[in-house]
Amino acid sequence: MAGHSTYVPKSAFGKWFHERLPIYALVKDTVMDFPTPKNLNYWWTFGGILSLMLVVQIITGIVLVMHYTPHVDYAFNSVEHIMRDVNYGWLMRYMHANGASMFFIAVYIHMFRGMYYGSYKAPREVLWMIGVVIYLIMMATAFMGYVLPWGQMSFWGAKVITNLFSAIPFFGDAVTTWLWGGYSVDNPTLSRFFSLHYLLPFVLAGVVGLHIWALHVPGNGNPTGIEVKSGQDTVAFHPYYTMKDSFAIGVFLLFFAFWLFFQPNYLGHPLNYQLANPLVTPAHIVPEWYYLPFYAILRAIPNKLMGVVAMFGSILILFALPWLDTSRVRSGAYRPMFKWFFWIFAVVCVALGYLGSKPPEGAYVVWARILTAYYFVHFLIILPLLGLLENPKSLPSSISDDVLSKPKLAPAE
Ligand code: HEM
Repeated sequence: MAGHSTYVPKSAFGKWFHERLPIYALVKDTVMDFPTPKNLNYWWTFGGILSLMLVVQIITGIVLVMHYTPHVDYAFNSVEHIMRDVNYGWLMRYMHANGASMFFIAVYIHMFRGMYYGSYKAPREVLWMIGVVIYLIMMATAFMGYVLPWGQMSFWGAKVITNLFSAIPFFGDAVTTWLWGGYSVDNPTLSRFFSLHYLLPFVLAGVVGLHIWALHVPGNGNPTGIEVKSGQDTVAFHPYYTMKDSFAIGVFLLFFAFWLFFQPNYLGHPLNYQLANPLVTPAHIVPEWYYLPFYAILRAIPNKLMGVVAMFGSILILFALPWLDTSRVRSGAYRPMFKWFFWIFAVVCVALGYLGSKPPEGAYVVWARILTAYYFVHFLIILPLLGLLENPKSLPSSISDDVLSKPKLAPAE
């Protein structure tokens, strides 16, 4: 590695260290000097924001664990103890709980950016698929984390979701008993969820490493969707994108701070401030907001097994996206018809989220069925056909040409 590096140590100590561990050369070559398209917009800052949020979740989580007790008799009270007695415990807990929501907001923006600009298309299919694995791990981690405070929603949410596995033909009940570690959601369930909730973020960090490796092979995509053609099309990652990412992170942290300091309980459920009670079922069991579209899909289908299949299918279909979109043009900016369907799809996802928060009755169910059908039609029919029927706009000849063709800002007075 050191042999190919452009890094020349300036001090005698630098030279001594470099010959023994060329880590600075590695960071300089693979991060700081990484040739990055010069036209990336702010939607490309969310990868950096996500990396930061993963670190925030791990650090606050580790501090919380110092005071939390994973036992059904103590978990709820230990969380209250963190909130009331531990110095800055309230801050750690609110950062962790709201941080999860911020993480999901960022990941949804990151994914929709990818969908709009066709970032999943060749040669970035593996990068995208690793992203889908990350998303699945995030969902599992957040689900198990929500069980840990052992409030009413923790308990009943765990019950509803683990019970879904009982829909598996023949082995369903055995699988559910195995997941629970008994015949109900109880102490063994809490212990294993705690163990996995602690483990999975580190697995996530490893998979994020693969994600970034897979990004570094083809390099970043960009809003035009055309590939880098010459050195003119790129700038060094540092200082250009370290600065842009830092600014975006600052703005994102202000947004995070708003929830944290002004509405710290808005994104949670009030029932989770009541101790779990297996004898009292809440009138409406609702998951956290980031699961709601999938919850709507689950409940839209009258048959339990088919509901579970549709719910998992709605996420797993993302793995096939690189092949379902048949267009030769990557970026939605040059696809006049796709653009419309992209926004319709985004609205459908938000609407499904709204329906997921409502009781499964009357018009809510009818709409959930229509929109669930549309969700799958978008991937299985609209995207494959659009690629064949649409007439894309002509692409710029290079990234540089595109940047230079943009109207210049008026000169300062
Ligand atoms: C912990 C979660 C994640 C982290 C830390 C992360 C990190 C990153 C980073 C740093 C980049 C480069 C900068 C950027 O394009 O924003 C990136 C690019 C990308 N990510 Fe992620 N990512 C995460 C989740 C996901 C998910 C869930 C998906 C899709 C399902 C995904 C798909 C992509 C794609 C396709 C690109 C390439 C975009 C392009 O260059 O055009 N990522 N990611």
